[in-house]
Amino acid sequence: MFPLNQWYVAGFIWELQDKPLARTLLNHPVVMFRGPDGGVAALEDRCCHRSVPLSCGMLEGGGIRCGYHGLLYAPSGQCIEIPGQLKIPGKACVKPYQVAVRNQIIWIWLGQDAAGEPPEIAAHDNPHYRYKGGAFHYQAPYQLIHDNLLDLSHVGYVHTRTIGGNAKTHMEAPTQVSSDGHHVRVVRRMPASQPPATYSAAWPFKGLIDRWQEIDFHVSHLNIFTGAVDAGTESLDDPQRGGFHMRGFHGITPETETTTHYFWTMACSTHPDAPDNLETVYQQTAATFEEDRVIIESQYRNMRQFPGAGMIDIHVDAGANRARRIIDALNAQAQQAA
Ligand code: FES
Ligand SMILES: [Fe+2]
Repeated sequence: MFPLNQWYVAGFIWELQDKPLARTLLNHPVVMFRGPDGGVAALEDRCCHRSVPLSCGMLEGGGIRCGYHGLLYAPSGQCIEIPGQLKIPGKACVKPYQVAVRNQIIWIWLGQDAAGEPPEIAAHDNPHYRYKGGAFHYQAPYQLIHDNLLDLSHVGYVHTRTIGGNAKTHMEAPTQVSSDGHHVRVVRRMPASQPPATYSAAWPFKGLIDRWQEIDFHVSHLNIFTGAVDAGTESLDDPQRGGFHMRGFHGITPETETTTHYFWTMACSTHPDAPDNLETVYQQTAATFEEDRVIIESQYRNMRQFPGAGMIDIHVDAGANRARRIIDALNAQAQQAA
């Protein structure tokens, strides 16, 4: 089960070019395209004539034409043309979904009446940052990705070539976990530590660094603010602190119960002595997330090899366990209401 009444990421606006984009989101096959006004349309990906996916068709005049017998649909889902037939039956329509574009992210609401606007991802439109991102597909359930992102102690073991660093320092970093409503926050600090490879490649640090990781979990996505300043130069409690910033956005959208879309961007602060740092950060972040995908898919394969086998908790699991309790409660509420 998934909590349905949330804004979930369906994609990025730059993915919508001159072809329909098909994605299964929370078990709903959806086709997306740009309407005549440049807005985004999202429809059930099934022609009402003989059930062929509309995504096999073509975009035409701001609508989408089925690639089998040519029914043409408006962005509203209403059929507006049946080739060779004048009368269009009232039932000739497909289900539209509510979508909104904010900060170049396409959000979709698949539950009951959408509540408010999708969340703001401010770093995408902040002139102090530049960003780039992509999408991964996981053969694993979405909550294993939440677990991974809420517990960054793993970076010292999994990401030794990029954002890692000393594994012991990561495992021993003081960690604060707090939550309110459907939000969990995990804050970790690593003062006077060695900069990892990505940090050294992207920013001219002078020596040791004071490093932070601030993770904000929401049901459909996480914002992870990481970075560092030269050791002893600025307070890590100052929200306006300078230094090297990496603001990660992670849209975790279940495809099915056992597969997941992982939409991500990384925004980084700029430095005159590191003009290409966005490309460095992007390449190394993509490599980092590929390492996570390999670990998590292996984990899930093994969980299926050992069905029902128990697992223990350790100190690093506190944030992930809170997020799981939030999702369990939302699913239980939905089940009661059904
Ligand atoms: S199946 Fe779409 S027009 Fe026939
Ligand atoms: Fe990771």
